[in-house]
Amino acid sequence: MEAKASNLSQSVAMGAAAGLAVGLAANFVRKAAVQSPTVLASNWDAALAAEHAAALKIFDLIERTDNKATGRRAALLAQLKHAVGKHAFQEENVIYAMMRDHGFTEAADHLNHEHGYVKQYFFELTEIAKDDRAWLPKVKKFRTMIETHMREEESDLFPKLRRKLSDEQNKHVTAAMNKEGFKLA
Ligand SMILES: [Fe+2]
Ligand SMILES: [Fe+2]
Repeated sequence: MEAKASNLSQSVAMGAAAGLAVGLAANFVRKAAVQSPTVLASNWDAALAAEHAAALKIFDLIERTDNKATGRRAALLAQLKHAVGKHAFQEENVIYAMMRDHGFTEAADHLNHEHGYVKQYFFELTEIAKDDRAWLPKVKKFRTMIETHMREEESDLFPKLRRKLSDEQNKHVTAAMNKEGFKLA
């Protein structure tokens, strides 16, 4: 009897372990799918530019919603927050750190400071009711701010860092950044 009970608990434990393994595998596949556009871009700066464009597409979708589409607004906001959160994690943990290491401390700190306000916008847009008339105007202000930030990165600061690094270093930055991105993908 006792042996049977322990067999049962053993098989329950094995079942749970198998379930966990399936869950982890599914999680890995999801992460790989989310990170793959970044990986496929091959260079860190091209990958970040592709993520900027993808985020702006989500802004486009949000801006097309009306005050009645509260569920869609919440879902798109969550999607944008996930995409931008992963993007910022990559920049802060690798790119801005490399910028500081190569003499662009002030520029890196300025960009990092702006990321704080990106979080502020996400917080406020989460707090405000999605059918509030103030919601969409805030989204538009957020977009203006984040687009300026993206342009500064893409057309000025990232090319400067890229030029300062050797091919080998750029390759290393790309790999390190993808490793970080995968954690939050
Ligand atoms: Fe940024
Ligand atoms: Fe960026």
